[in-house]
Amino acid sequence: MSVRLAKTAGFCFGVEKAVELVYKTIEENTKGSKIYTYGPIIHNDEVIKELEEKGVFSVEGEDSIRSLEKGSKLIIRSHGVGRSVYRTAEECGIDVLDATCPFVKKIHKIVEKNTLKGDHVVIIGDKEHPEVEGIMGWACANVTAIKEIEEAESFKAPLGSIVSIVSQTTFNADKFQYMVEIIRKKGYDTQVDNTICSATRDRQKEADEISRTVDVMIVVGDKKSSNTGKLFEICRSNCNDTYFIQTVKDLPKEVSKPGICVGITAGASTPKHIIQEVLLYVR
Ligand code: F3S
Repeated sequence: MSVRLAKTAGFCFGVEKAVELVYKTIEENTKGSKIYTYGPIIHNDEVIKELEEKGVFSVEGEDSIRSLEKGSKLIIRSHGVGRSVYRTAEECGIDVLDATCPFVKKIHKIVEKNTLKGDHVVIIGDKEHPEVEGIMGWACANVTAIKEIEEAESFKAPLGSIVSIVSQTTFNADKFQYMVEIIRKKGYDTQVDNTICSATRDRQKEADEISRTVDVMIVVGDKKSSNTGKLFEICRSNCNDTYFIQTVKDLPKEVSKPGICVGITAGASTPKHIIQEVLLYVR
C-alpha cells in the first residue's frame, strides 16, 4: 500500500506547549505539591491515564478549586478559562500555571477591550465548548455566542450599538464568513476579527486535499475531540472509506488491501506515537 501522511497531523503548537508544561511541572515539583489541570489537558484517554498514574488529576468548576489544598498547582490548558477562575485560584492560594494558547489569549483581550468600550460582542462558536465558555468569561457586559446560521439570522443588538465579532479558534472558516455577512446585512456598525487559528485551518485544508486522492482515509484521534470530529466530517465527504480510530487496534481489516493508497491525518490532541503506530501498521 502507498501512504500519504498529513504533515499537519497531531499536536498543534498550543497543545504541545500545554502537555510539555504538565510534564515539566511534574519533573520540577521538588516540594511535592499536588498538581491539577483545569479540565483534561487534552482529549486523549491514554495521556490522561498516564498523567493520573503520575498523580495529576483534572478539576473543573470554581467550587472544585475552592476544595484544593493551599499551595497546589493548577495548570490551565490551551482552551483557556474565564477571568473568575484566576481570581478564585488566587483567593485560595493556588499556584496557577498558564498554558492558554496565545491564539485564545488574543480573543480574551479583544472581548475584554470591546465590551469595556460598550460594543456588543458576538462569539461565533459553540457556547458549550470550554474555549467559548472561557472567552465569554472575559466579557464585561453584552456578549452573545452563536453557532448556527438561524441564530445569526435572529440575532438582535440594541439600536446604535457597535457589533464586534470574533470566532472560536476551531470554527469552520466558510461558515464564519457567511454568518458575519448575515449580521452585517442587518445594518449594524461591525468590527470583525477572524480569530480562527491558522493551525486548524491548515490541518483541515490538508485533510481535505489528501482525502480527495486516496482509496482509504484514516483519521486518528479521541472520539471526544471536536477538532478530530471535524476532520472526520471533511474526509468523509470526499472519501467513503474514511475511518475514525483512537488507536491502531481500532483499524478494520479492510484497510490492509495491497495496492491501495491510504491517507492518514490526526487531530490536534493525538500524540505522535499513536500516529506512528498507525503509520507503521499500514506500511
Ligand atoms: Fe491554539 Fe489553534 Fe492549537 S488555537 S491550541 S494552535 S488548535
